[in-house]
Amino acid sequence: MLVIIENNYDALSLRAAGIVASAVRKNPRIVLGLATGNTPLGLYRELVRLHCEKALDFSGATTFNLDEYLGLPANHRASFHTYVQDHLASRVNLLRENIHVPDGSVHEHYEEYCSAYEALIRKAGGIDLQILGIGKTGHIGFNEPTSSLGSRTRVKTLAPATIQDNQPNFGPNESVPPCAITMGIGTILEAHRILLLASGASKSSAVAQAIEGPITSTVTASALQLHPDVIVVLDEDAASQLRYRDYYERVLQNTMQLTPERVE
Ligand code: GLP
Repeated sequence: MLVIIENNYDALSLRAAGIVASAVRKNPRIVLGLATGNTPLGLYRELVRLHCEKALDFSGATTFNLDEYLGLPANHRASFHTYVQDHLASRVNLLRENIHVPDGSVHEHYEEYCSAYEALIRKAGGIDLQILGIGKTGHIGFNEPTSSLGSRTRVKTLAPATIQDNQPNFGPNESVPPCAITMGIGTILEAHRILLLASGASKSSAVAQAIEGPITSTVTASALQLHPDVIVVLDEDAASQLRYRDYYERVLQNTMQLTPERVE
C-alpha cells in the first residue's frame, strides 16, 4: 500500500482527483469503480472542475458504483443513483449507457441480478481504478464486519452503526433501508488499482486497523493489504492513529523518485 497523508480534506481531494484524472487521461476508455458518501465529494467536485476548465474527457469512460440501498427507487433523493447523477454524471460528459449502479428496486431473483452486475463488469474488461471510502467500522462498500473476504456482489444486511451513520441522508420520518446490494470484497480486490480515501478523526481507528492491523473480516478494508496496487490518501486527522507514518513518508519520497507513475 502506498499511504499518502495530506494536510486537510481539500488537499486530500486534490491529490485523489489528480490520480483519477491522470488515469483517465492515460486511458480514455477507463473503467472506474465509484464510491459514494461524503468523503469522495471533494474528489468529484475537482473532477468536474477539471472537466469544465481542463477538458478532462469522460466520453469513453465507464463507471460501476459499488453499492445501492435495496428497496430504494433510483430517483429517491438518498439513492446512490441520485448521488452519482448529482455529483458527477450530470456535470461531466459520461455517456448515460456507460454508467452502472446496482438497481435497488429489484425485488426477486437477487442472486441472478447480482451475477449479472458482475458479468457487466467483466464484459467491460474489469475495473481499472476503484475509488473507495471507508466506514467507521472499517467497511468498504457495504461489506459490513464479518463479510466474507471472498464475497461477490450480493444483498447484504446493514449493521446498526452503518444505519445510524447514514440516517442523516434520509428524512426524519424515513428509515434507512435494512439491506443493500454491494460489490463483495472478492469483487473489489479484482480491480486493477484501488484508491482509498479517508478524512477526519472518526475514521482514524478504522484506517489504522485497515492498514496496520491483521487481515480480518471484522475490518473488511484490511483485505486491501492483499492487493498489490492500493493508494490510500488520508488527511492528518484520519492518519492520526497510524504507527508507521514516518516510514510511509519515506516510501512516498522514494516512490516519487523511482517509479513516479505509481503516484500519478
Ligand atoms: C457507506 C458507503 C461506503 C462509504 C461509507 C463512508 O457505508 N456504502 O461506500 O465509504 O459509507 O461514508 P462517508 O464517506 O460519508 O463517511
